Amino acid sequence: MDKIVIEGGSSLRGKVLISGAKNAALPLICATILAPGKNILTNVPRLGDVRTVLKLLAIIGAEVDLEWPRVVVDTSELDNPVAPYELVKTMRAAILVLGPLVARYGHAKVSLPGGCAIGARPINLHLKALEAMGATIEIKRGYVEVTCDRLRGARIDFPVATVGGTENVMMAASLALGVTHIHNAAREPEIEDLANMLNAMGAKVEGAGTSTIVITGVDSLHAVEHRVIPDRIEAGTFMIGAALNQGEVELQGVNPSHLTSVIDHLRRAGVTIETRTDSILVRGPSKITPFEIVTEPHPGFPTDMQAQFMVLALAAHGKSIITESIFENRFMHVPELVRMGAQIDVQSRAAHLLGPAFLEGTTVMATDLRASASLILAGLIAEGTTQVLRVYHLDRGYENIVDKLQGLGARISRVPSELF
Ligand code: EPU
Repeated sequence: MDKIVIEGGSSLRGKVLISGAKNAALPLICATILAPGKNILTNVPRLGDVRTVLKLLAIIGAEVDLEWPRVVVDTSELDNPVAPYELVKTMRAAILVLGPLVARYGHAKVSLPGGCAIGARPINLHLKALEAMGATIEIKRGYVEVTCDRLRGARIDFPVATVGGTENVMMAASLALGVTHIHNAAREPEIEDLANMLNAMGAKVEGAGTSTIVITGVDSLHAVEHRVIPDRIEAGTFMIGAALNQGEVELQGVNPSHLTSVIDHLRRAGVTIETRTDSILVRGPSKITPFEIVTEPHPGFPTDMQAQFMVLALAAHGKSIITESIFENRFMHVPELVRMGAQIDVQSRAAHLLGPAFLEGTTVMATDLRASASLILAGLIAEGTTQVLRVYHLDRGYENIVDKLQGLGARISRVPSELF
């Protein structure tokens, strides 16, 4: 397995182009199941998770043509509505084929995802919603089998705003008989992107981006061309990188309106931010102000930026508190940061951090994507050499992160496994 090696101390300077959003691309690819024909997606990030979902579409029977960042998914003839364990275990988002498969075929068999590094992450709300729409659900030998001749519109009240649950219902309801109301729907920009693509396919989805989404089912959908929105979490990660060590970075190809909460919190920490239509200029201060953050569903502060903000807190002058309210076990980066010299005290779901920390480079690894990104950021402010193992987590969600950081002046390289 490759590793990433970082020499600490350099500040990031220059321009970086942000890729398409992983968490938008995954549901958009699943939505192509609903619309027979050649669907064309552009601005698709070349990532491990995107390859996994495309592999899944190929197993289901789609013809997939990769011309990164353009991907063609021909869903004219699908013949195998099954998502096998081998794929689902590596990427939970594979559950997003459930809604579209049942809607188009009346049947789907998808492996239960099993354990996850950041929390239990059940799919009960996805299943309950499909049941409310008339589907029969059976759990057999680790697989969930969902059957329904034609789904019916229903009222879905989510007790917690679930991104994947909202997406699954939006896709399923697009081909259902009648009207579906989703209450307490997730409001993430990726939900709006999915609604825009579904509507271009001929669906009738209203209210995406608010907490009530109304979907009027139609009889059929048609293939489309659609551009994936920019990755707000990749953008946020580079913004933290720029804020450390008094860097100055212009992010290009971004949508600042997707990053309101992240921008607010960075400004409160003393970071200078200038936004334009599709770019953001970030200038790191000489002294970072400590802060308090609680993760929340969008438009609140995103859990996917929590680990990266911890590194900003370690560089700040004083005590910061970061509370994780979405997932119950999303502090795996803490013991690794502590090994680098950080002072972090976790009390239940709140991490108390004391800065400025004197971090020393060492060998670290993390068990999820955003935690791995935080270790790279920590490597930028640590003294000496930091080696980040388990690089495959980063490959799942950050396109060319090493090249992009090198382009900004970071002393970082990827060492192939045969060399060590
Ligand atoms: N939940 C349930 N039951 C369900 C579904 C969710 O209890 O049936 C709970 C979860 O356990 C969690 C909360 O609801 O406590 C929110 O989970 P959600 O369903 O919103 O998360 P998700 O759809 O599985 C997506 C992103 C995650 C991101 C979360 C929260 C994708 C592919 N994944 O996951 O992204 O952290 O929303 O914003 O969109 C990442 O990119 O690193 C990542 C983990």
